Amino acid sequence: MAASDSFYLTTPIFYVNDVPHIGHAYTEVAADVLTRWHRQSGDDTWLLTGTDEHGQKILRTAVANDTTPKEWADKLVHDAWLPLLETINIRNDDFIRTTDERHEKGVLIFLQKLYDDGYIYSGEYEGYYCVGCEEYKQLDDLMETEDGDFAGQKLCKIHTRPVEVLKERNYFFRMSDFQDRLLDLYETNPQFIQPESVRNEIIQFVKQGLSDLSVSRSSFDWGIKIPWDESHVLYVWFDALLNYATAIGYGVDQEQFDRRWPATHLVGKDIARFHAVIWPAMLMAAGIEVPRQVFGHGWLLVGGEKMSKSKLTGIAPSQITETFGVDAFRYYFMSAISFGQDGSFSWEDLSARYQAELANGFGNLASRVVAMVTRYYDGVLPAPADYSDADLAIQATVAKATVNADAAINSLAIHEAISAIWTIVEELNGYITIQEPWVLAKQDETRERLGTVLYTASEGLRALAVLLSPVIPEATGKLWAALGASGALDDQPVRDAGRWGQLEPGAGVAPLEPLFPRIEEVPA
Ligand code: ME8
Ligand code: MG
Repeated sequence: MAASDSFYLTTPIFYVNDVPHIGHAYTEVAADVLTRWHRQSGDDTWLLTGTDEHGQKILRTAVANDTTPKEWADKLVHDAWLPLLETINIRNDDFIRTTDERHEKGVLIFLQKLYDDGYIYSGEYEGYYCVGCEEYKQLDDLMETEDGDFAGQKLCKIHTRPVEVLKERNYFFRMSDFQDRLLDLYETNPQFIQPESVRNEIIQFVKQGLSDLSVSRSSFDWGIKIPWDESHVLYVWFDALLNYATAIGYGVDQEQFDRRWPATHLVGKDIARFHAVIWPAMLMAAGIEVPRQVFGHGWLLVGGEKMSKSKLTGIAPSQITETFGVDAFRYYFMSAISFGQDGSFSWEDLSARYQAELANGFGNLASRVVAMVTRYYDGVLPAPADYSDADLAIQATVAKATVNADAAINSLAIHEAISAIWTIVEELNGYITIQEPWVLAKQDETRERLGTVLYTASEGLRALAVLLSPVIPEATGKLWAALGASGALDDQPVRDAGRWGQLEPGAGVAPLEPLFPRIEEVPA
């Protein structure tokens, strides 16, 4: 049982059959914002991400490209998946590949234990398989069309491509044994699967009855060999799910495992079922505590459809970051979409929000306040005198926003956290309009009041820098430096951001370049 301040968050490990698009980046950014928040709050935080490299899909891609699966995976990891983390500024603590020796080692220990304890048996599998999903399919999961290339064939509803008929001797995992325990888990711990829409869907699915799961394949060999029968390789999902355990030392480093486990799993709703059904059943069989939570976020849609590479609607993250910058990428997807629901991407929406919220709302506020301190006080932060009601209202807004944002983050409502923080931007902009510091600057008699107003505005910015740093680390880093705040921004406890008066009067305030410059040309 992990200590109560442990926050171990995982993303899915992504298939290396192709390069990343903004859907993958979306999950990564959400995970990064959540873990930066916890890390900056002093929690014992760990962010794991990585790649899923075995199975038929990768094997076929490699063959089609005249190479071996390992060479293909190495190339994609180094040329595309690791660079993605740089492109969108992800501060992960670990990156696991299912071809890592440490992973394979842990998987073998786990499998042998399940086998020895009687949870795996040999049987005959006959049915359908979608290589795109790497999943065994029931008739309900399939469709047929009357025209086109695939007329009359059984197609996977997700990929609209033909499924394959499999008839193999396989090893099976006794998943059906866990149906009641799983339903009991969902019932007694409603937080286990979130959001509610995903939870309901999974409860319905399990209530229809669980069959045992085929966990090996013998018709190809790109995978982890079954330890007691090397003519089989492990089913790619059984292999992949175990990354969450092997990465933190399952079977090898018990101390590390106990420190981190149980995990919170962030996934797209497309794969929530694997995480909320198969994975906890595997853990129950092995006598390991189930995850803390499985959160299935929504899909990024393009033209009303789930964006995907297999349907050629993928957009590369760098297309956006090259024009708008990495902070804008992060802010846009986290604020514009209710986390848990689907959201449509469009260049127009991104562009409009960039201008209104980041450039005019936050960026302009920061520049104006810093410029006034520089101009009226030669870059030396003035001390506040007596606070008026208007000043106290700002202090209250900052305190409340901090509490509300933290509560929202704890329920993974990232968009709500940002809108709580944004109340500070709005209140401060209104405050400056009403206080008119440029008028106060004209007379000596209002000099003291001017100092109080600018100190108040600077303190508001200080809180904004801390609260927004998990979302827009670059811009807040520049603001932090300009404010002459002491200590590293990363070390500022985010839950303490609402405590008033942390900037030292007398600190040196330096000019600030525009945080969100004007965009000349927007791609279409
Ligand atoms: O499923 N909108 O990998 P994968 C939002 N290897 N998120 C999206 C998205 C979209 N349009 N498209 C993809 C696999 N994603 C397995 C996982 S885990 C043990 C194994 C994100 O490369 C989202 O997180 O197909 C989704 O669940 C994941 O990419 C699927 O990535
Ligand atoms: Mg996929």
